[in-house]
Amino acid sequence: MEKLIVHGGSRLSGTVTISGSKNSSLPILAATLLTAEQCVIRRVPDLSDTNYMVRILGTLGAEVERASGRVIVAAEKVIPQAPYDLVRKMRASVCVLGPLIGRLGEALVSLPGGCIIGDRPIDLHLRGLEALGAEVEVKGGDMKLSAPDGLRGAEINMRGKFGSTVLGTDNVMMAATLAEGRTVIEGAAAEPEVADLADFLIAMGAKIEGAGTRTIVIEGVEALGGAEHEVIPDRIEAGTFMVAGALIGDDLLLENVCIRHMGALIDVLRESGHSVEEKGADAVRVRAGSSPQGGEFTTEPYPGFATDMQAQMCALFATTPGISVVTEQVFPQRFMHVPELNRMGANIRMEDATAIIKGVERLSAAPVMASDLRASAALVLAGLGADGTTEVNRLYHIDRGYEHIDDKLRRVGAKVERVKE
Ligand code: EPZ
Repeated sequence: MEKLIVHGGSRLSGTVTISGSKNSSLPILAATLLTAEQCVIRRVPDLSDTNYMVRILGTLGAEVERASGRVIVAAEKVIPQAPYDLVRKMRASVCVLGPLIGRLGEALVSLPGGCIIGDRPIDLHLRGLEALGAEVEVKGGDMKLSAPDGLRGAEINMRGKFGSTVLGTDNVMMAATLAEGRTVIEGAAAEPEVADLADFLIAMGAKIEGAGTRTIVIEGVEALGGAEHEVIPDRIEAGTFMVAGALIGDDLLLENVCIRHMGALIDVLRESGHSVEEKGADAVRVRAGSSPQGGEFTTEPYPGFATDMQAQMCALFATTPGISVVTEQVFPQRFMHVPELNRMGANIRMEDATAIIKGVERLSAAPVMASDLRASAALVLAGLGADGTTEVNRLYHIDRGYEHIDDKLRRVGAKVERVKE
């Protein structure tokens, strides 16, 4: 295993190029299963999660070639069974369900486990696919879906107790592209990654309207063809580097960003006293505020404040003067970073799914344990602003979602090194 040694005290200046979106790449790679023709996906980040998805496509029978950020897929012959040993490692592999049932009329995928950020049910996915006519049988940890007579369009509400479901919306939208007739998805997730997936599906010949809003309408077609697509910038990687800029940035420029995807975060950073300046259509300049004040936010489905940015903001608020209040409504248990930040000297008190953060002068380095993708990023940020040298263990968490994060940080002045544990 590897760990990241993070030396506090540096300031960040220079330019970071943000990678393509992980959370766009995963469903779009799955969507290539919907056609026998070749697809080319560009700007796919080199991450363990995208590597898993490429391997899953291969075991499902697709020909897959990967050359740096470009992935070429030809899923001429596809089998319906996704490999347990790969699926269990990545919850997002659940998004092969929609393409398999849509194209083959059957799918056998193991149930994704929960994970550290909380229970990860897929009841809404299954309810949506059943509404399209799939029969669902859950047995021995596997989900067996079949639609011997094909799928038929339906009116489906995808809203759950915690709001909309991103991958659930993706699964139903992908399956509906080949269903007979019209499907209307109400309570759809409006995340930019859902709209990006729809753009790719439309390029393949799908008939979709309203993606990126709460209501998506899909007219089923006979077959889909091959297409080329470049995934959108990763708004969570960009947000993570923006928080780094707010923490210790003298003059940090982020390129290949889509500013309109990050409105909620930019508002909170500006209200807290940091400088976030739009530079043209796809770049943003971040400088740490001279007298920042604590703030507050509640995580919500897009366009609300992203749950995937919650941990990183806790790391920033930990040393922001004043009281900050962070409420997690999407994954209420997603606070594994709090005990680790408190070990570094933060003053964070939990009340149910709300963190009350009293800003302290500085954190002090300590060996900390990464637990999930975004909590790990939060601990790296905390280490950058802390006194001394922080060791972030279990680096594999961070490699799931951040492409070469240590290289990118070093390039703008951070003192970090990756070492074998
Ligand atoms: C996507 O996960 C993202 N992953 C997550 O990012 C992100 O945190 C999440 O959306 C919310 O924005 C990918 O896109 C690959 P959900 P997803 O279904 O689709 C509940 C990261 O760090 N729910 O939108 O799996 C669920 O428990 C990852 O990059 C049900 O109740 O999340 C949660 O409370 C972590 N039943 C809420 O909905 C279901 O059938 C939102 O989950 C499905 C979800």
